[in-house]
Amino acid sequence: MTDKSQSIHGQWSSRFTFILAATGSAVGLGNIWKFPYITGENGGGAFVMVYLMCILGLGIPIMIAEIMLGRRGRQSPINTMRSLATEAGSDPRWQYLGWAGMIAGFLILAYYSVIAGWAMAYIVKDFFGSFINSDAMEIQRLFDNLMASPFQQIFWHTAFLIITMLCVMRGVQNGLEKAVRFLMPTLFVILMLLVAYAMSSGGYEQGMAFLFHADFSKLTADSILTAMGHAFFTLSLGMGAIMVYGSYLPNNVSIAKTTFFIAGADTVVALLAGIAIFPLVFANNLEAGSGPGLIFQTLPLAFGHMTGGWLFGLLFFILLFFAALSSSISLIEPAVAWLVENNNMDRPTASLWAGAACWVLGIGVVFSFNIWSDLKLFDKNLFELLDYLTANMMLPLGGMAIAIFAGWIMQPKDAEEELELPAQGFQIWQFLIKYVSPAAVFLVFLHVLGVL
Ligand code: PFF
Repeated sequence: MTDKSQSIHGQWSSRFTFILAATGSAVGLGNIWKFPYITGENGGGAFVMVYLMCILGLGIPIMIAEIMLGRRGRQSPINTMRSLATEAGSDPRWQYLGWAGMIAGFLILAYYSVIAGWAMAYIVKDFFGSFINSDAMEIQRLFDNLMASPFQQIFWHTAFLIITMLCVMRGVQNGLEKAVRFLMPTLFVILMLLVAYAMSSGGYEQGMAFLFHADFSKLTADSILTAMGHAFFTLSLGMGAIMVYGSYLPNNVSIAKTTFFIAGADTVVALLAGIAIFPLVFANNLEAGSGPGLIFQTLPLAFGHMTGGWLFGLLFFILLFFAALSSSISLIEPAVAWLVENNNMDRPTASLWAGAACWVLGIGVVFSFNIWSDLKLFDKNLFELLDYLTANMMLPLGGMAIAIFAGWIMQPKDAEEELELPAQGFQIWQFLIKYVSPAAVFLVFLHVLGVL
C-alpha cells in the first residue's frame, strides 16, 4: 500500500504518458461508434443532456476515486480491493468487486474486438476505393455484405485480438505507452476535418438541432439508463481498467487535474463525432436510429465525395483502429495483471489465455449479426445482450460500489492523503462520492424497475 511506491508490473514514465494512456482507454469506439448510434436510437438532445450530466456528476468523481484506489493499492483490481479493504479494517470480500470488473472486461472485449474488426475491414475497403462516388445505397450494401459474412468478421476479429495481445504482452512502458503516444492529436485533427465537411453537407442545422435540442418527452427510463451506462463505458469506469492504470501512476501526480483532462478530452471527441455524423444522416435521408452500423453507413459517404476523401478515410479508419486498440488493452489489463500476480504466469502466457477466452466469445458475437441473429434472449441477440449487461448493468453497479468504498469504507484521511486536494475541493468530491453518485445510480435502477 503506501509503503509500496511502485507496482510489480512497472509504472508510467511520466504524468503525461499516464494521461495519454488513460485518455487512450477512455477515447475509443465508445466515442466514435457507440455515442452517435445510441444518441440516434434514443432521440437525440435530451439523451445527450443526461449523458453530459452523468459525466459531470458521476463520471468525474468516480474516476477520481478509481484512480486513487488503484494508486493506493498498486496491484490488479482484485488484489487492490482486498488489500485496501483490509487496510480500512473492512471485509476482504470487497475483492469480488475486482472480480466483477475483470469479468466485465472480458465480456466487453469479446464484442469490442468484433466492432474494431469492422474498422479494420473499412481501412481495406477505403484503400481499394470502395467509397469513391458511392451513394447511400451502395455504402449500405457494403456494410450489409460485411454483416452477412461470418468469415470476414471472424478474420478481422482475430486479427484485432492478436494485435491487442501483442501490445499487452510487452508490458506497461513498452507496449501500452507506445501504442497511444501519437494517436490522440491526429484523431482530433481528422475529426475536425469531418466536422468541417459536415457543416457544408446541407444537413448541418438539422443535425445540430437533433444533437442539442433537448425534448425530454422522448426520454424513457431505459434511455436514461443507457445514457448513464454510456457515461461509465466511455470513461472506462466501473470495471477496474482505470484502477489498474492508476496502479501504475507515480505518486507525485495530481489525480483530480488529470481526471478533468481525460474526461474533457473524451467528451469533446464524442461530441465532435456526433457533430460530424448527424448532418450527414439528415442530408442523405438516412435513419438516425439505424443502430450499430451508423458510422459505417454515414462517414464513407463523406469520404466518397470530399476532396482528399480517400486519404482522410484511410487515416480515419486507421485512427479508429488505434483508438479501439488503446481501449482494448485496458479492457484486458486487469485480468492479465491478476493472472501474473496470482497464478504465477508470465505476461505473455497471461495475455494469451485472456485473449483466447475473448476470442471464443467473440465468435458468438459475430454470429449474432448473421446466422444467430434470430437467437434472442429478453428480445436481444448476443451482441445486444453483452452490451446491455456490461454497459447498462455491470459498469454502473461497479461504479456505485467503487463510490461506496471510496466514500464510506476507506478512511477519509487516506483519501485526503492520496488526492492532495484543497480543503474545499476535497469536501465537494466527498459529498459527490458519498451521496450523489451512489444515490443517482440507485435511483436510475429503481426508475428502470418501475418502482419510481
Ligand atoms: N472507454 C472505451 C470506449 O469508449 O471505447 C471502452 C472501454 C474501455 C470501456 C475500457 C471500459 C473499459 F474498462
